[in-house]
Amino acid sequence: MNAVVAPTAVETVTPVRILQERSGDAAAVDALVLAAFGPGRFAKTAERLREAAHLAAGFCAYEGERLIGSVRLWSITVGEARSVFLGPVAVDAASRRGGLGAELVQACIDEAKTMALDGVLLVGDPPYFSRFGFLPAPEAVLSGPVDRRRVMWLPITEVAPVGLVRSVA
Ligand SMILES: CC(C)(COP(=O)(O)OP(=O)(O)OC[C@H]1O[C@@H](n2cnc3c(N)ncnc32)[C@H](O)[C@@H]1OP(=O)(O)O)[C@@H](O)C(=O)NCCC(=O)NCCS
Repeated sequence: MNAVVAPTAVETVTPVRILQERSGDAAAVDALVLAAFGPGRFAKTAERLREAAHLAAGFCAYEGERLIGSVRLWSITVGEARSVFLGPVAVDAASRRGGLGAELVQACIDEAKTMALDGVLLVGDPPYFSRFGFLPAPEAVLSGPVDRRRVMWLPITEVAPVGLVRSVA
């Protein structure tokens, strides 16, 4: 008599890849960001800045064919400082707290360091972004209402983020 062998459960883990954003990613990125931030989206001041800026770079986290994370960098200047504006950063709710958000932010920092910039600016939660080296940037002036305690700068050179924040098209 043949022995009956129970099938062994094999757990397959789809690897997550972080890739440079391409033009074909835009619709999936928009859907992910909408789901992460809700219909109210993010602060209008940041959105106005992004609308007028060149998309300098973006990174997408893919689990198989599914987009589960995104972050973008927008060309700006802050007074005399050459910079990029980081955001929005979003990770699919089911994939959070595994370090993906940190990988996406770090990919931006690494990229920014190759771009002849003075630093990276963002408007975000200090408890999250301070871990990457972002510091308060109270002298960076955005043209619109913003909680100044949330304006942060990651320095690359000695040039300080002092003055008006402008989009670079
Ligand atoms: C913020 C976000 C991108 C982080 O993605 P993630 O993959 O979970 O990030 P990580 O795994 O690298 O980090 C998770 C840690 O950050 C903490 N964290 C997440 N958002 C935070 C916030 N706004 N303020 C402080 N801490 C935060 C988590 O509690 C977690 O802490 P733990 O490590 O002690 O468990 C994700 O939560 C998200 O998409 N949120 C909605 C969109 C959003 O608010 N984006 C901007 C944040 S200012």
